[in-house]
Formats: sequence, structure tokens, C-alpha cells
Amino acid sequence: MQIRQATFIMSNTDHNKCPEARMPEFAFIGRSNVGKSSLINMLCERRKLAKTSVKPGKTQLINHFLINDEWYLVDLPGYGYAKVSQKDRAQWQIMINGYLLNRLNLMCTFILIDSRIPPQKIDEEMIASFGENALPFALVFTKTDKLKPAQLKANLEAYKTALLENWEELPPFFVSSAETSLGRDEILDFIDESRKVFDVDALNRKED
Ligand code: GTP
Ligand code: MG
Repeated sequence: MQIRQATFIMSNTDHNKCPEARMPEFAFIGRSNVGKSSLINMLCERRKLAKTSVKPGKTQLINHFLINDEWYLVDLPGYGYAKVSQKDRAQWQIMINGYLLNRLNLMCTFILIDSRIPPQKIDEEMIASFGENALPFALVFTKTDKLKPAQLKANLEAYKTALLENWEELPPFFVSSAETSLGRDEILDFIDESRKVFDVDALNRKED
């Protein structure tokens, strides 16, 4: 798929104020600093579309980007940053749950995982919550350029083994780098396929 157009539309805290749910949508979630905004820029081949930072906690809102006038990419704020207050954590939860559980056009959420580190409890909990709520998701392993191939392979195997302790089969998953664009074609192909099953009529019926 070619990205001809990628435009920032709006930022929200409330899913009710997001753009009308008339087009398929794909969101990116993961721990702060895992590389969500960088991945979106890599996919769109626009270095400054989504704001990135070396410091965790850069993305704070639900950010909609319109792609090719046909579908939305959504950059979400990260979780698990130690310096966030209890109150802000609770607000994050309300904002994100509201969005994930109510957004009718959300076709799939990509849960990003740092490929350099062993499975983290907080990511496992996030993945489990998608399962419990029957929300479609795929995993994306990020920052793979920072690892030697053998180390990457070992980390991915360890992750798969950990997943299979809780899941009967593995979810779709992708291996990526915002530096080298590894995974770009695969993720865009997956989005393209998922887009095809978006049914605007079913959406209208749900809303009635
Ligand atoms: P929050 O918005 O704070 O939740 O973070 P985020 O998940 O959006 O992360 P962001 O894209 O801002 O990236 C965080 C840092 O990681 C930045 O310094 C990026 O340059 C770096 N980074 C992201 N992806 C990659 C990657 O694939 N390879 C390398 N080497 N660095 C990356
Ligand atoms: Mg971000």
C-alpha cells in the first residue's frame, strides 16, 4: 500500500469527540517510549507527523491521522512510566478504556513491545485485557535495530514461549524498526487486508 496522504486531524481525551467513525481505524498502544509515534512516522514515511521524544510521556492524547482519505491511524499515550501520578494514571485508564471499548470503527490495535527486554508484566496485562474484552490486536516488536540478529531471535522465541503459556495460539505479530523501516510492508499489508472487512452498514446498524 502506498501512503499518498497522511494528515493530522485532531487530539482528544474523550472518544466521543473523535472523528466520526465512518472509516476503518488502527491504533498503536504500548509502554511510554516503546516507539509508537516513531513507528507511525516510519509507516507514513513522514519524519515529523507524530511527535516523538527521547523522554517517555510525550504523547498525552488520542491523536487521529487520516491516511489517503480512507482510514485512520491513531497514536495513543503510553503506559507504565514510573513518574506518572496515581491521578494521571487513573485518567489515562478512563481515556484509553473509553476509546478501546467504544470505538466502533477500530479494526485492530497494535500493541508495541520493546524487543530488547524480557516479557514485562505490564505488557502481559495489557495483552490479557484485549483478550478479556475480545478486542482484536496484533503485536509489534520495536527497536530491533538495536539488537544483534541472534539476540533478537532469542528474545522473540522467549516472548513467544511466554505468550503460549496464556494463549492457545499466537496473535499476529510483526518485527519492526523505525530506523531501518523493517516491518513496514508487512504492517501496511496487514492493515490493507483488515480494512477490507470494514462494514459501514454494520456500523450504521450498531448505532441505531
Ligand atoms: P510516548 O509518546 O512517550 O509514549 O513514547 P512513544 O512510544 O511514542 O515513543 P517515541 O516514538 O517518542 O520514541 C521514543 C524514543 O525511542 C525516541 O528517542 C525514538 O527515536 C526512539 N525509537 C523509537 N523507535 C525506534 C527504533 O525502531 N529504533 C531506534 N534505534 N530508536 C527508536
Ligand atoms: Mg508517542
